[in-house]
Amino acid sequence: MRIVHVVGARPNFMKAAAVMRGLESFGACQQFLVHTGQHYDPLLSDIFFEQLGLQSPDVSLGVGSGTHAEQTAGVMIQFEQAVDKIAPDWVVVYGDVNSTVAAALVCAKKQIRVAHVEAGLRSFDRAMPEEINRIVTDQLSDLLLTTAADAADNLTREGVAPERIHFVGNVMIDTLLRMAPMAARPTSIDVECGKYGFVTLHRPSNVDSPEMLSKLLCALNAIADDLPIVFSVHPRTSGRIRDLGFAFKNSVNVIPPVGYVESLALQKDAAVVITDSGGLQEESTALGVPCLTMRENTERPITCSEGTNTLVGTDCDRLVSEVREVLAGRGKKGRIPLYWDGKAGERIAHVLFGAQGVRVSA
Ligand code: UD1
Ligand code: UDP
Repeated sequence: MRIVHVVGARPNFMKAAAVMRGLESFGACQQFLVHTGQHYDPLLSDIFFEQLGLQSPDVSLGVGSGTHAEQTAGVMIQFEQAVDKIAPDWVVVYGDVNSTVAAALVCAKKQIRVAHVEAGLRSFDRAMPEEINRIVTDQLSDLLLTTAADAADNLTREGVAPERIHFVGNVMIDTLLRMAPMAARPTSIDVECGKYGFVTLHRPSNVDSPEMLSKLLCALNAIADDLPIVFSVHPRTSGRIRDLGFAFKNSVNVIPPVGYVESLALQKDAAVVITDSGGLQEESTALGVPCLTMRENTERPITCSEGTNTLVGTDCDRLVSEVREVLAGRGKKGRIPLYWDGKAGERIAHVLFGAQGVRVSA
């Protein structure tokens, strides 16, 4: 069996690493990694290959940044040529980024089977580009591999046949559990374990509007009076902060994106995680660290209903008071959701090999 994995943006690497390992343990397949180049800065791409032990890409499409149409079309044009050469039996796509939907579209037209890892997540907010990518990718995929039970409800509501849906668990947590022993905070940051907040922000709704971004940054400055902040700044966000000419307090440590082992450690040792990232909502739940999400909705509601996540919305005063609640010991404790157990990659391998998968009803 010939399997192509499509990765392009930061969160894809952790997911593909888990599935490739799951498949490796089966042996009888040839795996190819296609990197679209949606993310290309070493700190958004190369560092994850090194840290996660991912094989080098067999094909690099080098698509880079652009408008949604440019990026999606760029991946489609290049990826079509790649699959023509490789002739895979399956193409595995991850998450909800532009590279994901682009590859799924190419495969659907060429009648190549597609498996979507992290299928069925819905924010019900079509102003989010990722929501469009999720809906389209799920409609085009042959196998819908889900992380939580609510995903199957979303998919069946959209007319996906139940036999295409497999509840396999969360591959992001496979990688977290494997890498947790290697987690190491960057030595350059002088903060005490359990006594800082870890922040990431990159959603267009938060960072593309100067008004919203400056409100968020002012809230971080206010929080930093009580709690030092470590703010890992995504490249989408760094330019916007520069344009604002914003002055951070000294207790806000503004740093470039960190590697995965650093990100894990910075989350694990934090008093609180403040984010709009999908991956961090899940990782903080797995690590049992309270998470405050600066969004009005989440496609990962299980992190709120079972995990440590609280949806703060976009009210920055509320963010400051929620941080105080956490510091007063009233943050969510949460529990680990079903099948966030380090075995999702193996379950996916079973499903792909047509062996016994875990059905929707499991
Ligand atoms: C993308 C995904 C988002 C995901 C995020 C993970 C889409 C629509 N968005 O958002 O779902 O949560 O990745 O981090 O697919 N840039 C660099 N260097 C890079 C990559 C990007 O400087 O290596 C800058 C460019 O100015 C670019 C901007 O960041 O225009 C945005 O990059 P893009 O890939 O379009 O979207 P992200 O915000 O990264
Ligand atoms: N991450 C990282 N370094 C950072 C910030 C995040 O390695 O500086 C990791 C994080 O631990 C998680 C993934 O990147 O595994 C999440 O990616 P991101 O927030 O970019 O995208 P999203 O999950 O929102 O799509």
